[in-house]
Amino acid sequence: MAINWEELKKQFSEKIANAGDLNTIEQVRIDLLGKKGQIAALMAQMKDVAAEQKKEFGMAVNTLKQQTEKALADKVEELKKAAMMKKLQQESIDITLPENHKHYGTLHPLTIVQQQLEDIFIGMGYEVWEGPEVELDFYNFERANIPADHPSRDMQDTFYIDATRLLRTQTTAIQMRVLEAKGNDLPIKVVCPGKVYRKDDDDATHSHQFVQMEGLVVGEHITLADLKGSLELIARSMFGKERQIRLRQSYFPFTEPSLEIDVSCHICGGKGCPTCKNTGWIEILGAGMVHPHVLNMAGIDSKKYSGFAFGVGIERVAMLKYGIDDIRNFYTDNINFLQTYKRFE
Ligand code: DAH
Repeated sequence: MAINWEELKKQFSEKIANAGDLNTIEQVRIDLLGKKGQIAALMAQMKDVAAEQKKEFGMAVNTLKQQTEKALADKVEELKKAAMMKKLQQESIDITLPENHKHYGTLHPLTIVQQQLEDIFIGMGYEVWEGPEVELDFYNFERANIPADHPSRDMQDTFYIDATRLLRTQTTAIQMRVLEAKGNDLPIKVVCPGKVYRKDDDDATHSHQFVQMEGLVVGEHITLADLKGSLELIARSMFGKERQIRLRQSYFPFTEPSLEIDVSCHICGGKGCPTCKNTGWIEILGAGMVHPHVLNMAGIDSKKYSGFAFGVGIERVAMLKYGIDDIRNFYTDNINFLQTYKRFE
């Protein structure tokens, strides 16, 4: 019985080569190398082979078996690799696809500045107090030493709810509530942030609604020097270590003496530029020593205790700090404008 070993090898190799996936190759393995497979069948023929040819036949079957095993193993390896590549390709993320955009909100620039200021004051041992935006005329004006016929009311006309209630015009109203609530529980050290309202025609620098932060310190031996030191620290924290402050005489009904505080220009360093209108100084807040009458009205003995107060406009600080030229930007909900301040959070 003559067997064409080369032809068999070729047939087997083709079968193996043609297997396109792991299932098929397993079928091919069973067919060729299984117990009832073609190689086993060849081995079974051994008993019919003439004795002098047995050795040669045996060697040929063995060689064929080894070649088949090797070819199968290589093919299985190759198919496994291909399957893995296919899987990886299916699982891979196509980074050329447009991003699934999620828009996250940001802190409002006014909130950012308010929180920065609060942090500075809390670091100096101040408490943060808030008060109602619909306020009593009593705290907004009367207690602030601004009786009904006081001319300074003209500058702070507002929206009245009724004869006694109004939209507060100044965070000084919160100061008056704090003075009354704390009474002789001294010393007092508070900052009071909040929205205030005035009857104003809106333009680049005026808004009928804005945010202030009031500061109040009351205790024994509190002097103008304490006020100056505290404000210097705040000016430097907000506008840079090099800043100087300047105190100018002013008038507020609830302070005596009253002051306007200027800070040396953070843009030109004091030389003069458009931001500081060529003066080298920028006005940032009103302040003064709490008027003795204001302390007395709240039940605090002005002969024994004294205090300083100040009120700062948050928009003004934010506009100076970030170079914003129109106050209306804060209130028009322009997402592009708001997103600009994300990096300052
Ligand atoms: N309430 C004042 C205003 O709205 C600002 C102010 C000035 C507050 C002096 C103060 C102060 O506490 O001492 O214009």
